[in-house]
Amino acid sequence: MSFANNAVKYPVSIEAKDVMITFNQKMLFCADRLSFSQGDVIYLQGDNGSGKSTLMKLLAGLLSPTKGQIESHGFLPTPWWRTQSLLGKAVYLHQHPYLFEGSVKYNLTYALAQRSLSSEQRKKRISQAIHMSQLTDLLNHHASDLSGGERQRLAIARAWIAQPKLLMLDEPISNMDKHSQSLVLAMINQLKQDGTGLLISSHQTCGLTALCHQYWHIKQHTIHTSMHVPTVEEVHQANTTELHYGTTN
Ligand SMILES: Nc1ncnc2c1ncn2[C@@H]1O[C@H](COP(=O)(O)OP(=O)(O)OP(=O)(O)O)[C@@H](O)[C@H]1O
Ligand SMILES: [Mg+2]
Repeated sequence: MSFANNAVKYPVSIEAKDVMITFNQKMLFCADRLSFSQGDVIYLQGDNGSGKSTLMKLLAGLLSPTKGQIESHGFLPTPWWRTQSLLGKAVYLHQHPYLFEGSVKYNLTYALAQRSLSSEQRKKRISQAIHMSQLTDLLNHHASDLSGGERQRLAIARAWIAQPKLLMLDEPISNMDKHSQSLVLAMINQLKQDGTGLLISSHQTCGLTALCHQYWHIKQHTIHTSMHVPTVEEVHQANTTELHYGTTN
């Protein structure tokens, strides 16, 4: 595993310890210990409303747990003016991604604005992203005019350019046709090869989840972790059993 895209020598990580989150006095989920590190590729599964997006927001520092701690390790020290020290460490890509006001091209070039690359490297990375996401014909379109699937493709291309150390992708291939799915899959695979830590939520067991080597499952208000990622056949089998015998979840 290479960490070539990252300046630090050791993998960075986010750890959650004894966390619990409640909304309106009702517990959504709890977890003893969760560790999300560079190099991890984790499949996050759970029913609608089980708390997948909420968990990602907690790890991104966008929400605070009702109980427990979320710590970051291996990152550069937080600037003194930043009150929430987790923000900006694990990047959360929303299931309905936010895009900047402006063209597709602007959205892609802005992603690299913060990085210290030569203009040659910058151009190369952007044109690679355009090629991989096949957005060439849409470059001058306004981002707000894109279809749902195109918006998601653009958001992933932008994340691919920015190369965060930890990236959380919330339903990255929902509403996508097979062609868009395969383009996004290739970009996510490339991020994996570069050592980016990935936490991916999906309702489908597919090529995307086949990239994962850890499994987090939110079930009965608890996050269960495992090194075994279920296959399409196993999920089908479990669903069939639940349909026949019912479930307590
Ligand atoms: N800020 C909030 N205040 C109150 N309730 C909230 C808040 N955020 C989320 N919830 C509730 O928490 C539950 C979990 O929401 P969440 O979006 O995390 O689920 P999810 O697993 O991502 O679902 P889906 O598969 O539909 O995307 C939902 O019932 C939601 O209404
Ligand atoms: Mg969600």
